Amino acid sequence: MPGGVPTAVVTGGASGIGAAIAAGLVRRGCAVTLADIDAEAVRRTAAELGADAAVLDVADADAVRALIHRVRDRDGRLDYVFNNAGIFVAGRTETLSAEHWDRVLAVNLHGVVHGVHAAYPVMVEQGYGQIVNVASVVGLAPVPFMLPYSTTKHAVVGLSLALRAEAARHGVRVNVVCPGFTDTPLLERVNAGLARTGMEDGWRRIARRFQLRLYPVDRLADDILAGVARDKAVIVAPRRARLLWHLYRLAPAATVRVTARSRGLLPSGGPREHVTRTGDKAVPPRPPAPPR
Ligand SMILES: NC(=O)c1ccc[n+]([C@@H]2O[C@H](COP(=O)([O-])OP(=O)(O)OC[C@H]3O[C@@H](n4cnc5c(N)ncnc54)[C@H](O)[C@@H]3O)[C@@H](O)[C@H]2O)c1
Repeated sequence: MPGGVPTAVVTGGASGIGAAIAAGLVRRGCAVTLADIDAEAVRRTAAELGADAAVLDVADADAVRALIHRVRDRDGRLDYVFNNAGIFVAGRTETLSAEHWDRVLAVNLHGVVHGVHAAYPVMVEQGYGQIVNVASVVGLAPVPFMLPYSTTKHAVVGLSLALRAEAARHGVRVNVVCPGFTDTPLLERVNAGLARTGMEDGWRRIARRFQLRLYPVDRLADDILAGVARDKAVIVAPRRARLLWHLYRLAPAATVRVTARSRGLLPSGGPREHVTRTGDKAVPPRPPAPPR
């Protein structure tokens, strides 16, 4: 990497994890551009941090490409791109509409693809750069009731590791971040702008059941920036999230069985259909008799 001021683009930088990463980058002397769909919030956060703001939807490939090229042309370099923007969609799979699937794929997966597609050739050409994609621990292990979200996060993990293997020869680094439940507004924005599924509320309580406490966003940002500096392939935090990941790698079938029984994910007072209880043993209902 050449001397001078490094540049960074952080998508979804107006709030939560993106804003905390951006604050850490500014403290480390980077020139940071925040990109977000929320115009008011991104301008406010950028002004607070001393960063630049760009308003865009990461689902719009042309807008993402234009931003990446604008930063490179303005600063003459592109050091870091954090593809972090994301939305959370939750619900029993049978309650989800095509819109739930389409929107989460557009933002969480295509948004990352657009960032990679725009930034990677620029970094290959300059011979350095680092792409950091934010997935989730549910991109590493199976968790029910968030199928489209989990699908996108598994895809982002696969995309990132495959690109990492390809990019090294060009001097370009690629990392993927897989956080557990973190204390950000995302947990209140479940299914935002989409039809309700009955699983919008109570995520802070659910998160505490799994993790004992929500991970503070500043600590996660420190973990991420430390992992990025060490060029860790997969950055997983906090410890509980790493535990789930290790458990799944050691015993995949058993982990699926454990998460399948997980009542912590059901909204309080919500229906408990599909499971009848005999003593303390969960018994799945019998399948219907085949037609004669
Ligand atoms: N908070 C958690 O518990 C948690 C856990 C694992 C992974 N993540 C992932 O971390 C990332 C950041 O989430 P967060 O918790 O900071 O959420 P957040 O809601 O606080 O921040 C997300 C930001 O992304 C922006 N955004 C949403 N859609 C966008 C779009 N189409 N184009 C541009 N910007 C868009 C939002 O306006 C918001 O500012 C997401 O990818 C999320 O899936 C979060």
